[in-house]
Amino acid sequence: MADADNREGPKPPAAPREKGSQAVPAEPGRPVLPAKPGMTPEAEAAVAAAAAASGKPVAPGSPASGTTGVAGEPRPVYARITPAAPGTIPAPLKPSPAPAEDPRADEIALSRRMFLGLVPWSTLGWAAFTGASAAGTVLTARFMFPNVLYEPPATVKVGVREDYPDGFVEERFKDTHGLWVVRSGGRIFALVTICTHLGCTPNWLQNEGKFKCPCHGSGFRMSGIHFEGPAPRPLERAAIRLLDDGQMLVDKARRFLFEKGQWDDPESYVVV
Ligand code: FES
Repeated sequence: MADADNREGPKPPAAPREKGSQAVPAEPGRPVLPAKPGMTPEAEAAVAAAAAASGKPVAPGSPASGTTGVAGEPRPVYARITPAAPGTIPAPLKPSPAPAEDPRADEIALSRRMFLGLVPWSTLGWAAFTGASAAGTVLTARFMFPNVLYEPPATVKVGVREDYPDGFVEERFKDTHGLWVVRSGGRIFALVTICTHLGCTPNWLQNEGKFKCPCHGSGFRMSGIHFEGPAPRPLERAAIRLLDDGQMLVDKARRFLFEKGQWDDPESYVVV
């Protein structure tokens, strides 16, 4: 085999082949295809050199006519492109665009700095101190007027005797003074509107002729004597007397209790 090779004579030096993405120079007489997209500049230069050496122009975009697929025709030489060699540093990525800034950001920051610069901290401190002092003054003034329920005056004029027919219960003073003024049995007396059971306010029922407590049903006669329900004792009476001008004056501060025999006290009634 070696002898046969030697008999043929020395071979011409092989065409240089490039590694990687280098193009292979074309043999004389072979058409040269144009460079393809993605070729390295060296490969494109090699293609151009091969085209110049072959004396044929490079067909734009396609192999030269009749150079492929036909028996006996020279094969086209394509520029060979290989992937980049390992270790190649990739091209740096383009940095993403920075987010758009608020065009008023500088203006806002400047306004804040101006405010903090123009208003000294001592002024803010004094303003806070003044506000706290004013609030303390208001609370102190409110403390001077506590929530107190003022009782109505203990005494009240309830009119003249002629205003009270027999068997009449005057309710005008129930809400204002907590009193009923009653004429019964030739006397005018004042009943306190407090149920002797647990302190509710009974109602006068004209048709039934009795006081009825809405809480637990205690009943009291016109005189104030209890006769039904849980009330343990009669209603209380207040002091009443006749004034020089003919008016009757009731003093709620003085009470007269039936169970103590006080209803016969002349200060507990007015004779008519
Ligand atoms: Fe009047 Fe109980 S409070 S019956």
